[in-house]
Amino acid sequence: LEEFMTARDETPIIVRSAAADDRAAALELISPATGRGRASQALLRAEQGILWVAVERLERTEALVGLLLATTQVDAEAEEVVGYIHELLVRPDARRRGVAMELLGAAERYFLDECHFGAVLVTTSFDNDAAIRLYRSRGYTLSQARLAKRRGAPREGSGTE
Ligand SMILES: CC(C)(COP(=O)(O)OP(=O)(O)OC[C@H]1O[C@@H](n2cnc3c(N)ncnc32)[C@H](O)[C@@H]1OP(=O)(O)O)[C@@H](O)C(=O)NCCC(=O)NCCS
Repeated sequence: LEEFMTARDETPIIVRSAAADDRAAALELISPATGRGRASQALLRAEQGILWVAVERLERTEALVGLLLATTQVDAEAEEVVGYIHELLVRPDARRRGVAMELLGAAERYFLDECHFGAVLVTTSFDNDAAIRLYRSRGYTLSQARLAKRRGAPREGSGTE
């Protein structure tokens, strides 16, 4: 169990491994509007994946303010077992307080220090500046480029690039 006070000394936020009850709360924090969100919800419902949560301690209860959902994967190309971060999400009103940093720290300690896996992987879009700055600041480097040609895209390309 790790507890940290935010810089502004607001309600303390705790980052910890999820308990059984946290999975239901996690399902509600994740939006089903994206494919990633729906896949994360499916993982949670199937009781799969490893979940860490950030909770705000209120008077009598706790409120979920962030989560990190990860799985163990086999990277066939690198022939190694890796931790894969499926979802990292912080409630908008709790952002920029270091919550994502703490969640990543917990997942990294588990996969790299406890499990001795070779790497932790995460996929995000190029335009997600917040996520890219966050990962880079923790030492993540770009390791692959995935390219896709969508059905309906011009067969020969636009010719401009
Ligand atoms: C990305 C996300 C998880 C960050 O959560 P967070 O708790 O606000 O992040 P932290 O407070 O730990 O930020 C740590 C560092 O990341 C970078 N960062 C975080 N949010 C940023 C933003 N909006 N713009 C620029 N840099 C940002 C900063 O370097 C920040 O350090 P600083 O606050 O000292 O400048 C959160 O914005 C989020 O849930 N976004 C929507 C979901 C998503 O995109 N998830 C990641 C893709 S898998």
